[in-house]
Amino acid sequence: MILLTGGAGYIGSHVSVALSDAGLDVVVVDNLSNSNKASLERVQTICGRSLVFRHADICNEEAVYEILRAYDVSAVIHLAGFKAVGDSSVRPMAYYENNVVGTMRLVSAMTRASVKTLVFSSSATVYGCPEYLPLDEKHPLKPTNPYGRTKFFIEEMLKDLCNSDPCWRVGILRYFNPVGAHESGLIGEDPVGIPNNLLPFVAQVAVGKRDKVLIFGNDYDTADGTGIRDFIHVVDLACGHLSVLNHLKQPGMLTVNLGTGSGNSVLEVIRTFEAVSGRSVPYEFGERRPGDVAACYANPTFARKALGWKSRRSLAQMCADHWRWQSQNPDGYRGTQPLQYRVSKLKVRAG
Ligand code: NAD
Ligand code: WQD
Repeated sequence: MILLTGGAGYIGSHVSVALSDAGLDVVVVDNLSNSNKASLERVQTICGRSLVFRHADICNEEAVYEILRAYDVSAVIHLAGFKAVGDSSVRPMAYYENNVVGTMRLVSAMTRASVKTLVFSSSATVYGCPEYLPLDEKHPLKPTNPYGRTKFFIEEMLKDLCNSDPCWRVGILRYFNPVGAHESGLIGEDPVGIPNNLLPFVAQVAVGKRDKVLIFGNDYDTADGTGIRDFIHVVDLACGHLSVLNHLKQPGMLTVNLGTGSGNSVLEVIRTFEAVSGRSVPYEFGERRPGDVAACYANPTFARKALGWKSRRSLAQMCADHWRWQSQNPDGYRGTQPLQYRVSKLKVRAG
């Protein structure tokens, strides 16, 4: 059994599908602080298999320990955490508590339960302002905001853990910019309030929920003046987790970029979205967003060599799948009916 923290969230729901499709049993632990368990109902519909859901907080070490023991867990994929860069500057302590302390509690529960295989969701944000491009895993780590620093500290903590005990098998995944949705249109990103990220904002403009996209700067030193990012299809990203789990059959530690290796500008994204959706996406140029960099994209060579993994889906497919999700679910998961989970049959207590 694989324990997936944060499995009801955007990336977690897609990782749940990848694991289930690979025939693995999954127990999702999520406190639903930024998600809706309807996502897991949809995951089960997509896969035609049940998964176990436990409503629990990773900061609750006893609850996590009990779940690790109850389900005979062999490995943990750890996605639970707060992720909003701007919010992390407003309430940094909440980020350190939830992300850093939460991971410490999780690792402590795993140690007690003798579960020593862990895959951790880090972020390209740990690199900070690029000193060179494309970014390889050896690039210096200089995160520029509290959220990024929580990821950096967790990475360092996990390295120390592996150095102290060679039984640990740890995979650190530095995601670039995950976008898109499962091709069914049943699961996808469901941001609360005004989206922070580009693709959900563009999709809400295309569906008529917002008037226009404000492009944060058109005076960067890039071909069209707008920012360049490494957008990666969330399904490709989810598949990367399977490759890492496979790799961790051998002991040790692995830190790897999950990106496509190519960058696309904000304007390219908007034009591609318009082309695949057939909708117009009005925009206007505004000031640069503080903390943004001109360009950021991965060198994905190590992932290919070490894991045999590479992304496959194009920007057009990312936009088309994102649009299918947005147009079929204009209000996200809100309004969907709750599910009867296997958990109710198992009579396990809520965490
Ligand atoms: P998300 O908010 O959709 O998912 C995170 C999930 O974790 C949510 O379901 C939330 O309810 C849950 N959660 C949060 N704190 C918890 C806690 N203490 N206990 C139990 N559950 C908790 O975010 P996402 O986009 O799916 O991101 C998943 C992971 O990937 C995060 O760790 C994030 O930092 C990382 N990441 C995301 C991106 C991105 O752009 N989406 C990029 C790089 C890294
Ligand atoms: C992409 C581009 C913006 C919104 C963030 C986090 C990073 C990681 C991924 C978690 C930039 C521009 C955006 C808008 C715009 N998350 N933009 N108008 O900033 O590259 O990365 O998400 O780990 O840590 O920082 O992604 O989608 O916010 O922005 O012009 O309304 O779109 O300026 O050039 P970013 P993003």
